[in-house]
Amino acid sequence: MEPPLHPTELPRHLAVIMDGNGRWAQARGLTRSQGHTAGTTAARAFVARCRELGIGHVTLYAFSRENWGRPKDEVESLFELMRRFLDKELDTLLAQDIRLNVLGDMDALPLLTRKALAHTVARTAKGRAMVLNLALNYSGRDEIVRAARRMVQDGLAPAQITEQALAERLYTAGQPDPDLIIRTSGELRLSNYLLFQCAYSELYFTPTLWPDFDAAELDKALADYATRKRRFGKTAEQIGPTP
Ligand code: FPP
Repeated sequence: MEPPLHPTELPRHLAVIMDGNGRWAQARGLTRSQGHTAGTTAARAFVARCRELGIGHVTLYAFSRENWGRPKDEVESLFELMRRFLDKELDTLLAQDIRLNVLGDMDALPLLTRKALAHTVARTAKGRAMVLNLALNYSGRDEIVRAARRMVQDGLAPAQITEQALAERLYTAGQPDPDLIIRTSGELRLSNYLLFQCAYSELYFTPTLWPDFDAAELDKALADYATRKRRFGKTAEQIGPTP
């Protein structure tokens, strides 16, 4: 497939809410876990395509803090899937020079998943071509509260509490904010995702269910993003002509 866009038109950071695995499975008479398996296949292809296009930061919302409320067997199968994904993908991540990073509270995750994550994060630490963030047991509000707590622990005076100081204490410290957030399956909300970082993100919603979100769907989203006039609160005149 043709890379559709000039690199300057691509998001530097692309974040996704991979929604609709359950409905995809239900429509086929499959179990929800089978839907997540199909979602993992889609995630694998998605990451490979982003890497090929040269997108430097990709974030996948794999498990929210609120997802603990799902049936126990679904939660267990999700973590098992993630563990297998990490095992299977390590060589590919290394070959593609991708660094894995986790956004979220790892302490509450099952031991084997935690171990697989720590191993993959350590092994891929030198990856330079792309950062792949997995949001796991993630909550945007909780992330902000933790950053605030750390500013207090670090002894910052009120005048030192700045947006920059807070951003440096988020899970995404050192990374650009997401330029584009994609949500699949027709839901029109952010569900506690990257709440501090999304201030000026472009949002793209599609009815396509996550397991069906293929390279053509990604190209469509990126082409749409390339038409957006990003003004960051300024007037069109202040921004000047777009290239
Ligand atoms: C939402 O679909 C999806 C999730 C809660 C989990 C996303 C996880 C994966 C795609 C698999 C693991 C990913 C990696 C990268 C290893 P849903 O279950 O809410 O679908 P529904 O709204 O149709 O029920």
